[in-house]
Amino acid sequence: MRLSLRHRGVNMEHWSKYWHTSGVLNSFAEGDANSGYTGDLQKFWEQQLKDVPRGATVIDLGTGNGALALLAQNFGITNQKEFAVHGIDAAKINPVEQFEKSPAIARKLKKIEFHSETPIEKMPFDADAIDVMIAQFAFEYAPQKQALEAVIKQLKPQGKFVAVMHHTDSALVKDSKVGVTVLTEILENTPLFQQSDMLLDLASQAIPQIGADGWANYPHNQVLTRSIQWMMKALQEKFSKPQELNYVNDVVRRIARIFEVMNAKNLDDCKRQLAYEYHVLNDHRLRLQDQLEAALNKKQATALVKAAEKQGASAELDILEIDGSPFGWTLKLTK
Ligand SMILES: C[S@@+](CC[C@H](N)C(=O)[O-])C[C@H]1O[C@@H](n2cnc3c(N)ncnc32)[C@H](O)[C@@H]1O
Repeated sequence: MRLSLRHRGVNMEHWSKYWHTSGVLNSFAEGDANSGYTGDLQKFWEQQLKDVPRGATVIDLGTGNGALALLAQNFGITNQKEFAVHGIDAAKINPVEQFEKSPAIARKLKKIEFHSETPIEKMPFDADAIDVMIAQFAFEYAPQKQALEAVIKQLKPQGKFVAVMHHTDSALVKDSKVGVTVLTEILENTPLFQQSDMLLDLASQAIPQIGADGWANYPHNQVLTRSIQWMMKALQEKFSKPQELNYVNDVVRRIARIFEVMNAKNLDDCKRQLAYEYHVLNDHRLRLQDQLEAALNKKQATALVKAAEKQGASAELDILEIDGSPFGWTLKLTK
C-alpha cells in the first residue's frame, strides 16, 4: 500500500538549489511569485486561520522560501493574533538571506523561525505541543506514514493540521507530466547538449587559429550547427502541442542565447553557461518528478484519511477548486 511505500531515497539538493537561486517566494505561483499566495488560495488559508487563537504556535511544513508561513504571519499581525510562526523544510533553506534585497519581505521573514534540513517525519517539537500545522504542496512529498505519525503526535489535543496536496487531476500535475516527458527526452535521449558542448570545444580550438571569419565558414562548424538546429526543429515537431512546446522552446532559447553571444573571448564562459543551463533544467525535471510522485489520486487521499482516523484524529477530505478545476486536495485533521 502506498502509505508505507512513499519513502524515497532522500536527496533534497534540487529543492535546496531552487530555494537558493530562483528568487521566488512560493513554488507554484498563483500570480506574482514574489508576493506569495494571493487570490482564492490566500482566501482558503485565511479561512483556516481565522479561528486559531491568539498567541498560537503555527508550523508551516515543507515551507520552501516561506510563502505560507509568511501568509500566516501577515494574517496574525493584521488580526492581532500574534502567532509564533515556524517553517520547516527537509531542504537547505534560508529565506531571510534569499530576500535580503527585498527589505519589506525580509523584515517579515525575520520574525518567522525557520528550521532548515528538518523533514516533517523528524520534526523536533515536543509531543502535544503545537496548536496548528499547515502545509501547501508539501506534506504529500514526505513518507506518509511517518509524517502523519509525527504530525498527530506533536499536535496539541484538539490541535489542527490543514494540508493542500497535489491532486492527480490538477492542471499543475498534468503539466508536470508533460514537463517530465519532454525534459527527459531532451536531456537523456537527445544529444542536444552534448553536441552544443562539442561545438563550443571546437570553437575554442579553431577560432584562435582561423579567426571569427574563418570560423563562420569552417565546414565542421557548419555541419555541427546544422545538426543542432535540426535536432531543435525535430523536437519542436515531435512535441508540437502548446504545453509541450513551452518546455521545448525554453530549452531552445537557453541554448540559442549562448550561441548568439559566443565570441573568441568568452568561450569558457559559454561552456560554463551551457553546463549551468543543463543543471537548471535537470533540477527542474527532478522537482516535477517529485511532484508527480507526490500527487494523490482519490484512493490514496482516502487511505490517508483512514490512516489518520486509525491514529485517533478526525479527518475531512475535500477538493479545492480554483477557476472551476481541481487545484488540490484539502485534508483537515483535528487531534
Ligand atoms: C512544492 S514545494 C512547496 C514549498 C512551499 N510550501 C510553497 O508553497 O512554496 C515542496 C517542498 O517540500 C519539501 N519537502 C519534500 N519532502 C519533505 C519532507 N519529508 N519534509 C519536509 N519538507 C519536505 C521540499 O524541500 C520543498 O521545499
